[in-house]
Amino acid sequence: MTIMQTLLLAAVPLAFAQTQTQPAGSPFPSSTYENATDPRAQAGAVSGQTSPPKYPSPWGEGLGDWEAAYAQARDFVSQLTLTEKVNLTTGVGWQSEKCVGNTGSIPRLGFKALCMQDSPLGVRFADFVSAFPAGGTIAATWDRKLFYQRGYSMGSEHKEKGIDAQLGPVVGPLGRQAAGGRNWEGFSPDPVLAGIACAETVKGIQDAGVMSTTKHYILNEQEHFRQGAPPASLGLNAISSNVDDVTMHELYLWPFADAVRAGTVSIMCSYNQINNSQACQNSYTQNYLLKNELGFQGFIMSDWAATHSGVSSALAGLDQTMPGDIAFNSGTTYFGTNLTIAVLNGTVPQWRLDDMAVRIIAAWYYVDRPGNQVADAPNFSSWTSDTDGFRHYYQSLDYQRVNDHIDVRGNHGAEIRAQAAAGTVLLKNTGALPLSGKEQLTSVFGEDAAENPLGPNGCSDRGCDEGTLAMGWGSGTANFPYLVTPLEAIKAEVLSNGGSFESVTDNYAYSTIAALGRRTAQVGGACIAFGNADSGEGYITVDNNTGDRNNLTIWGDFDLLVANLTAQCNNTIVVLHTVGPVITNSFVENPNVTAIIWAGIPGQESGNAITDILFGKVNPGGKLPFTIGSSRGEYGTDILYEPNNGNNSPQDNFEEGIFIDYRAFDKLGETPVFEFGLGLSYTTFSYSDLAVQAHSAPAYTAPSGNTGPAPTYGTVSNITSSYVFPASIDRIWNYIYPYLNSTSLSASSGDPAYGINYTWPAGSYDSSSQPYVAAGGAPGGNPRLYDVLFTVTATITNTGDVVGDEVAQLYVNLGGADDAKVVLRNFDRLTIQPGATATFSADITRRDLSNWDSASQNWFISSATKTVFVGSSSRKLPLTTTLDLSGIVTGPSGGNGTAPPTYPHSSTSSAGTSSAESSSSASTSVGSTVSLSSAYS
Ligand code: BGC
Ligand code: BGC
Repeated sequence: MTIMQTLLLAAVPLAFAQTQTQPAGSPFPSSTYENATDPRAQAGAVSGQTSPPKYPSPWGEGLGDWEAAYAQARDFVSQLTLTEKVNLTTGVGWQSEKCVGNTGSIPRLGFKALCMQDSPLGVRFADFVSAFPAGGTIAATWDRKLFYQRGYSMGSEHKEKGIDAQLGPVVGPLGRQAAGGRNWEGFSPDPVLAGIACAETVKGIQDAGVMSTTKHYILNEQEHFRQGAPPASLGLNAISSNVDDVTMHELYLWPFADAVRAGTVSIMCSYNQINNSQACQNSYTQNYLLKNELGFQGFIMSDWAATHSGVSSALAGLDQTMPGDIAFNSGTTYFGTNLTIAVLNGTVPQWRLDDMAVRIIAAWYYVDRPGNQVADAPNFSSWTSDTDGFRHYYQSLDYQRVNDHIDVRGNHGAEIRAQAAAGTVLLKNTGALPLSGKEQLTSVFGEDAAENPLGPNGCSDRGCDEGTLAMGWGSGTANFPYLVTPLEAIKAEVLSNGGSFESVTDNYAYSTIAALGRRTAQVGGACIAFGNADSGEGYITVDNNTGDRNNLTIWGDFDLLVANLTAQCNNTIVVLHTVGPVITNSFVENPNVTAIIWAGIPGQESGNAITDILFGKVNPGGKLPFTIGSSRGEYGTDILYEPNNGNNSPQDNFEEGIFIDYRAFDKLGETPVFEFGLGLSYTTFSYSDLAVQAHSAPAYTAPSGNTGPAPTYGTVSNITSSYVFPASIDRIWNYIYPYLNSTSLSASSGDPAYGINYTWPAGSYDSSSQPYVAAGGAPGGNPRLYDVLFTVTATITNTGDVVGDEVAQLYVNLGGADDAKVVLRNFDRLTIQPGATATFSADITRRDLSNWDSASQNWFISSATKTVFVGSSSRKLPLTTTLDLSGIVTGPSGGNGTAPPTYPHSSTSSAGTSSAESSSSASTSVGSTVSLSSAYS
C-alpha cells in the first residue's frame, strides 16, 4: 500500500459516517438512478471501496510480437547511465519545450527528446494540419477500414510534424454517463464497438510510424472532480470511481484489452482514483490488470499532473511522468532528480527503473520511430503560431524559428469528407430525403449552420459554442485548416442546381424564421434546421457547463426554433451536431419534421459531408454509437455534480455495473427514442438465412511457466558525484532535470522528511521470477480468449432502388440471470447494390461468450444458453439462434461469480500447456464444422 493509499484509507471511514443515511440503492444523488443497480456490482461499487495492493510491478519481457523491439531496447538501455535512463521517464516541465509533453534527450547517443502531442482527432496546437471527425463520429461509421484510415492519416500528420507519440485514441471515458464531457473524444459506450475502433486506430497510427497513447486509464468517466473536489488540497481529493471486478472486466477494461492486443505502445493513466487509489499509483490497475493480466509491454505515461508520488508510483507501475513537473510550472518533480535519488538510495530498485527505460525504448522501436524521423523535429511550437518564438516558452529562452509551417494534410480533406458522411446517421425520414436538388427554395436555419464570427479557431481549445459545431472543447482538439460550414456547402449545391437559397442563422429571430419557413413551404421547398450540443474537458467552462453537460437539451433554444419553424414549414429537416445523446421529444413525432439526422462532430469537412447526405450523393449508412432516450433518467446513471464526501474524494459508485446505455434501457424496460445501432438509409435491407458454423479450438488453458527474474541493464555506480549537475550544461531555470544538486542525496532531495523510516508495500522489491496469471500471458490477455469458436453468417438483401451500406450487427445474450438482454459482439459494414445480396460473416471468440469470475480471477463460459441475434440495430434483431456449447463450457450455469466456476487450469501447472498442445493438434482448421466435442474427447 502506498503512502497515499494509507492516508486515504485512514480518512475514508470517518468521511463516510455522514453519507450512510442515504436511501439504499441511491447513496449519492444523481450518480445512479433508482432500480438501475446491478446485483453483481453491489459488493464492489461502494463508498470507501479499496484497491488491493499488487506487487511487484511486472517487468516487460517482449511478449507477443514485441521480441525484436525488446532486443533492440535492451541493447540501447544497457549503454545508458542512471541519469540518461531517468531522462526517458520524466518530462522537462510544462511549456519548457515545444510539445505538450517532452522528455529529456540522450545527446551522447544521438537520441532526441521524445515529443508527446495531443490529440485523438488531429495534431493539437499546430498549423496546416487536418481536423478529423471526432471519435464518436468515426465510431458511427462502424467501418473498420475507416477507423484504420483515419488512424493512419492522423499518425502521418503527427509524424510529419516530428511528433513521437500521438496522445490518443480514447476509450476512457467509455461513456458511462450520457452527459460526460469528453465522451465525444472516445468512440462509444459499447465496449466492443469502442474496442474495435480503438484497435484499428492504434494500428493506423502506429503503422504510420508514430506511438499511440491510449487513454485515460481507467474509469475517467466524468470531468467534475476528476482532479479534485473543491477545495482541492495537493490533488489528493480526486473523484473515486468505485467499481466491482466483474464490471471492470466485462465493461471498462475490455477496450483497453483490445488496445493492448493491437499493440498500443503507451497508455495514459488518468486523473481520477479507482477504488480510492489514484490511477497513476494504483498497483491493482497498473501492475495487476494492465501489465500482468493484459500483458502490456509498453509504457504507462501519466496524464498531465496526474502523478501524485514518486517511489509509490514507480513501484505501482508508472513509467513516465508528464509533463514532468508536479504542478504545471512548479519546477519540482516526483521523478527527475528524485528518481535518481530513489535509485541511488535503493527505494526504487534498479530493475524497476531499467524496466521503465526498456518499455519506453521498446515502444520507440516497436513503431519504428528511428525509421520515421523528420528533419528539425518537432517543427512546430504548441505555444505560439508565429514563425519565431522561444524554444523554452515558459522560460522565455532561446528565441529562434519555432514554426516551420509545414503542411502535413496530404489528401486527408477528401478522406475526412467521406468519413464524416459515412458517420452521419439518418434517424427519421418520412420521404423528404434525399433532396432532389430541384427545390425552388431551400432554406437553412440556426446558428449551427454558420461560421463562428471569431473564425473556426476563434476560441482557444474550441472553448465556446459559436457557429457550427465540428469539434468539442479541451485538449482533444486540433486547429481547423478551414471549416466548411453547412451554410456555404448547401448554398453552393443549391446554386449549382439553379435553385434559390436563403438562411436565418440567428436562433432567436423568431418572426424572421417563421416568415422564411412559410415562404419555403408555399413553394414546396425544404427547411433545414441545424442545432447542436457541446461539451469538453473540465478546465474550460462554456455556458456554465464545466466540461460535462448540465443537461441533455439541444443548445440555443433549438426546441423553440423548431417549434416556430414547423408551425409554418411542413418539410422541416433537422440536423444535429452533438457530442452525445440529446432530448428530441419536442419535435421527434412532429409530422412537419420530415427528417432527422445526427451528423455527429464531423471535423473540417462538415458542410460538404452533410450536403453529400442531404442531396443523396452519399447514401447514409452510419448507425448510432449510443442510445437517444427521452430523459436523462432512463440512462440509469448520471454525472455526480455535487461533492458527496466533504473535502475528501467524492465517491462515485458504479452500482449499475455493466448496465450503461442500451443495456440500461433494456434492463429498466425503457423504450429508447432512437436505439443504439439504429440508422436508416435511402434504401431498405432484409435479413435472412442465419447460419452458425462451430470451430474447434484449443482448450482454454492458463499460460504455463513463470517469468524470468527481473533483468537489469548495465550497472549503476553509487558514486554520487557522477550524477551531480554537469558543469557543461547551461541550467535552464524551472526546467526538470535528472541530476543531483549535490553529492548528498538528502540535500539534493530538499525534502525535510528525507530518510524517514517507511515500509513499502509487501512484494514491491521482489525481483524473483513470477507466475503468469491464468487470464494473462500475452498482450491483450490469454491468447485463447481470442480463439474463434463460432462464425455466424446471414444474408442481407438490398430491397430498395439505390446502392447502400448496411451495418449488420451481431448481439449475444450470455444467458445468466444477471446478464444484459443483449450485448454487441461483432458487426460489418457492407455495400450492397439494389436487388443484390451480401453475406454478413462475423466471428464469435471465446471472450465474446465469457463472463468474468472474481473468485478464480478468470474468464469462463457458463452452461447457460447462449443466444445469438443478427439485425440492423440493438432492437431490430430478426434473426436468432442458440449456440451448441458442448465441449466448451468452463463454468457453472448462470455463473457471474456467484459460485466459483470449475475452471480446469486455474493454477500455472504444466498441465495447461500439454492439454493446449494436444487439443490444438487434434483440432481441425477454422472453417470446419466438426462438432466441438470431438476436439476434446
Ligand atoms: C488531458 C489529456 C491530455 C493532456 C495533455 C490532460 O489534461 O486529460 O487528455 O492529453 O492534458 O494536454
Ligand atoms: C492544457 C491542457 C491540459 C489541461 C489540464 C490546459 O491548460 O492546455 O493540455 O489538458 O490544462 O487541466
